[in-house]
Amino acid sequence: MSEDSNALRMEKIVSLCKRRGFIFQSSEIYGGLNGFWDYGPLGVELKRNLKNFWWRRVVHERDDVVGLDGSIIMNRAVWRASGHEETFSDPMVDCRACKIRHRVDQLPTKDNVPYCSACGSDDLTPPRAFNLMFKSFAGPLENDENLVYLRPETAQSIFVQFKNVLDTSRKKLPFGIAQIGKAFRNEINPRNFIFRSREFEQMEVEYFCKEPDGLKILDTWLEERLRFYQDIGIPRTKIHIHEIPDGERAFYSKKTYDLEYEFPFGIQELEGIAYRTDYDLSQHAQASGKPLDYFEEETKQRFVPHVIEPSAGVDRTILALLCQAFDEETIANDVGKAETRTILHFHPRMAPIKCGIFPLLKNKSELTSKAREIAASLRSQFTIFYDEAGAIGRRYRRQDEIGTPFCVTVDFDTIGENGPSLKDTVTLRHRDSMKQERIAISELKSFLMQAVD
Ligand code: GAP
Repeated sequence: MSEDSNALRMEKIVSLCKRRGFIFQSSEIYGGLNGFWDYGPLGVELKRNLKNFWWRRVVHERDDVVGLDGSIIMNRAVWRASGHEETFSDPMVDCRACKIRHRVDQLPTKDNVPYCSACGSDDLTPPRAFNLMFKSFAGPLENDENLVYLRPETAQSIFVQFKNVLDTSRKKLPFGIAQIGKAFRNEINPRNFIFRSREFEQMEVEYFCKEPDGLKILDTWLEERLRFYQDIGIPRTKIHIHEIPDGERAFYSKKTYDLEYEFPFGIQELEGIAYRTDYDLSQHAQASGKPLDYFEEETKQRFVPHVIEPSAGVDRTILALLCQAFDEETIANDVGKAETRTILHFHPRMAPIKCGIFPLLKNKSELTSKAREIAASLRSQFTIFYDEAGAIGRRYRRQDEIGTPFCVTVDFDTIGENGPSLKDTVTLRHRDSMKQERIAISELKSFLMQAVD
C-alpha cells in the first residue's frame, strides 16, 4: 500500500473511532490535551475484553503466575534505585524558528543534519536530556521532600513487592507476578493516535527464575506471546520479531525481543520481551537494605532470582486490533446498487458487542416483545445491542461497522405466524460472510458461548 493510502486508512480508522464511540480526544470540548485519550462506550468494552483475556491467559490459565495491583505513586526512592530518576529521558531539541520542541532522534535529516519537521528550519538548540516522568507532590507542601512521580511503568511495584508476594503466595521458582495498570510518560511528541500517548496502560509480567534457565524461558515467553496475539485476531504474519542487537539493549539485559506490528504508519513496537537478569531486584535490595533473595529448599542455597519481562501496551494492542480489523468492501445493496460496507473483523472474543438483536418490524408488538425477551435472556453473559430502528439491512451495516460478529432477527416465523415448523427459531446472520441461517432460540446461548470464549 502507498504512503498516501496508508495515511487515508489511518484517517478512516480515527474517524470511525470517534463517530462510533470507541475513542475520543480527552477534554475535547476545551480543545483537547495532546497525548491524552478517552475510551467511549465501545472502546471501553474492547479494552476490557483485551485486558480480561490477557489476565485469563497469563494468570488464570497458569499455575505459576499471580497478580498484583500496585499504586501509581510510590516512594521516590523506588525511582532512584531503578535508575529512572537519573536516566529515563529522551534527547530533546527546540526549533529556534518556530519554537516547537522535538525528540531529536525522531527528526528528519538532510545530509545527516536534523531539521524541524514542522517548519523545515535546521536552527535547532543542542540536544538536552528531558526526563519523561510526570512530577507531583504528596502532601500539602510543594517541596523537594514531597516530590513524587507518576509511575512510567508498572514493573517497579512488582519488584518492590517481590518479597511480600513470595511469602504470601508460597510460590516456588520459576514463577511470575502480573499486573495491568496505568503508566505515564511526558512524551515530547505524542503521535499516531493512541500509539504514543502520555497516559497509557501496560500489561506486564515479571517472571522470576534461576539464572541458568533465563534464556530458555525467554524463548518460551516469546512463543506464548505470539500465541496470544494470534488468539485475539492478530495473525503471526503481521508480527515482526526484532531481536535487539548488542549495544542497543539496556546494559543489564542479556537478550531482548521486540514484537512489532505492521501499523499503517510503519512497523512499530507492540511489546518488549526482555531478559533483565537480576538487575532490578539487586538494585532495590541494595538501595532499601532489605534482602530480595530466594531460598531454595532443595539445595539450601540463597540467591537473587533472574527475571524475564513480557511488557505489552494495552493501547497499542487496541490500535493493532482496530487496524487489523478495519476493512471496506463494495457490495450490492437491496436494490442492486453498489455500496461500501465498512466492517471491523474483530475476533468474536474481542468484539465490544457480541450480538445485535432486531425485531423485523418496529410496530408489531409480538415481534418487539419476543426480541426484547431474547435480548434480556442473553444480557447476563454477553454484550447485546437491541435495535428496532430502520431497514434491517441498515441495522446490519451499523453492527458491521462496530465489529459485532452476529445478529439475530426475530420475524413472523419466530412467532409462529407461518405455521409451527419454524416457531421459536430466529435468523442468525454472520458479519464476515453475511450468511444467514435459522437457529432455535434455545440454542443461541451455547452458540454464542462457544464463539466468543
Ligand atoms: N517495563 C518495561 C517497559 O516499560 P517499554 O518498552 O518502555 O518497557 C513497554 O514499554 C510497552 O508499553 C511498549 O511496548 C508499548 O506497548 C507500551 N508503551 C510504552 N510507551 C508508550 C506510550 N508513550 N504510549 C503508549 N504505549 C506505550
